[in-house]
Amino acid sequence: MSTVTESQIERVAAAPATEIAPRRRFLCHCLKVTPDEVQKCITDTNAETVHEVTRSCGAGKGCTACHCRIKDLLAGLCDDCGQSKRRCLCAAQTV
Ligand code: FES
Repeated sequence: MSTVTESQIERVAAAPATEIAPRRRFLCHCLKVTPDEVQKCITDTNAETVHEVTRSCGAGKGCTACHCRIKDLLAGLCDDCGQSKRRCLCAAQTV
């Protein structure tokens, strides 16, 4: 059984948030679509359903595993933490 040392705790505490939990690069891995691209698609086309997002930017056209994340964006939730955009601090933590 391994134990966490004091120096390991200090190293994690001192590390920038991006090193501990890097932002997901793609929201849809099959079609290589980023969360920002999906958000722009939702904003530009006023998409209200996953089908509309899929039709306009391609995200969600493969295995469908990302549909729940697309639905979160459609509902106005942060793709990283699941909080509403008003409560989310993820954007404030990225540099
Ligand atoms: S991850 Fe989006 S369709 Fe597979």
